Amino acid sequence: MDWGLKNRLSQIIKPQDNRALMLAVDHGYFLGPTEKLENPKKVIAPLLKYCDSLMVTRGIQRTCVPATTNTPMVLRVSGGSSIIGEDLSQEEITVSIQDAIRLNASALAMSIFVGSKYEHQTIVNLGKLVSKAEKYGIPVLAVTAVGKELGKDARYLSLACRIAAEQGAHIVKTYYCENFEKVVQSCPVPIIVAGGKKIPERDALQLTYNSIKGGAVGVDMGRNIWQSEHPVEMIKAVRTIVHGNSTVDQAYAYYKKLVSEGPKNKPNQNKPNQNKPNQNKPNQNKPNTTKK
Ligand code: R5P
Repeated sequence: MDWGLKNRLSQIIKPQDNRALMLAVDHGYFLGPTEKLENPKKVIAPLLKYCDSLMVTRGIQRTCVPATTNTPMVLRVSGGSSIIGEDLSQEEITVSIQDAIRLNASALAMSIFVGSKYEHQTIVNLGKLVSKAEKYGIPVLAVTAVGKELGKDARYLSLACRIAAEQGAHIVKTYYCENFEKVVQSCPVPIIVAGGKKIPERDALQLTYNSIKGGAVGVDMGRNIWQSEHPVEMIKAVRTIVHGNSTVDQAYAYYKKLVSEGPKNKPNQNKPNQNKPNQNKPNQNKPNTTKK
């Protein structure tokens, strides 16, 4: 593996503990203004320093992410369908490699829709993207899409993840499921778990814990962070599991403690200044809650 590819991968999966905490904010590429992500700039600002990388589209990166950030960008480069269109699986690569380089992407992300009408197109696109990206030392993260007509069990996800890895994806993002270990064992590249629909905070922390225990290197979480009433507190709690090996009880206690502390005890109104971490209070629950 070339130096550039290794270096970029190490920006996504931290070599200190081989773990990754990605913040997903790319939902608008087919959902438009998703609930609580209507104003991406305000959502991203207070969270950026707590994630290892940000999963984002080029439009949101350019308009809503400060170019001065040190946080690596995982650039979504696929799209072409919308939630109100005929078929979500009809995606193409929408971003050139040149533009991805201009945006200083640390990795490129695209979806494959195994078992859908357009599976051929999306899988071939993945192979072609890997070939292009490898020329420039840029890793590719393949997202195994799920949908009403697609499965979400270990059998389906193993198939989809393995196909992504066979096409050369360097990281695969998929969903947690029963017998998740099987999915991990049959996929030769690191797996990152998507958060999915908003669930209670403790359940999202459990999902994070189960994913790591099951062999994932981390999570790429979106809605369960920024749709929480307390996004900063939530990402910090998730972080204690991913990078601090907290148990679910420890992480949830930490979340509740942060929420109960001082002026930050306000619901999520996407107001960054209200959610700033309190630098004066020591973390009494877990180490490693700050970004490495
Ligand atoms: C979905 O296709 C998007 O790529 C999201 O990044 C992904 O679903 C993760 O976000 P969430 O945790 O909200 O599911």
